Amino acid sequence: MSEQPVYGQGDGSYGQGDASYQAAGQYEGLTRLSERFYHHMDSLPEAKTIRDMHREDLTESVEKLARFLSGWLGGPKLYREKYGPIAIPRAHAHLGIGTAERDAWLLCMEKALAEQPYAEDFRQYMLEQLFVPAERSRTQD
Ligand code: HEM
Repeated sequence: MSEQPVYGQGDGSYGQGDASYQAAGQYEGLTRLSERFYHHMDSLPEAKTIRDMHREDLTESVEKLARFLSGWLGGPKLYREKYGPIAIPRAHAHLGIGTAERDAWLLCMEKALAEQPYAEDFRQYMLEQLFVPAERSRTQD
């Protein structure tokens, strides 16, 4: 979107301390991101296969992803606080995730990021960084 970015410094400090958590708008911003992410998963034809892996009600998925991202971006470890430790590869080991599923996940995230009031370099940073756990979630070609 074309509005002025609300979050993000644009000074390349993402990844240090909780800079990324702040740039993402803290937990409130991450909840909005996660809601939009699952909205796209629920509507994009490219994401139908991965949507079908999830339960009908996505409320818990929205909350779990937002909580996970909080700790992952250097903020409070909200996922661990509520659900205990998590390892992304193990959390997805029972699923059939190949490159198509990984790319569908990242497409939903790209669309959700584009809707946030984030600095452009932070959106780019997020997408690049999220490729890593997305790739590690893969269980097949
Ligand atoms: C690569 C494509 C991905 C697919 C297709 C996928 C799909 C799923 C599905 C279907 C679940 C629900 C598992 C279940 O209840 O049986 C899940 C859980 C979860 N995913 Fe993913 N995921 C992907 C990547 C990621 C990435 C990159 C992250 C983090 C950045 C992530 C974070 C989570 C979290 C936090 C949970 C909740 C785990 C739990 O508490 O059970 N996922 N994922």
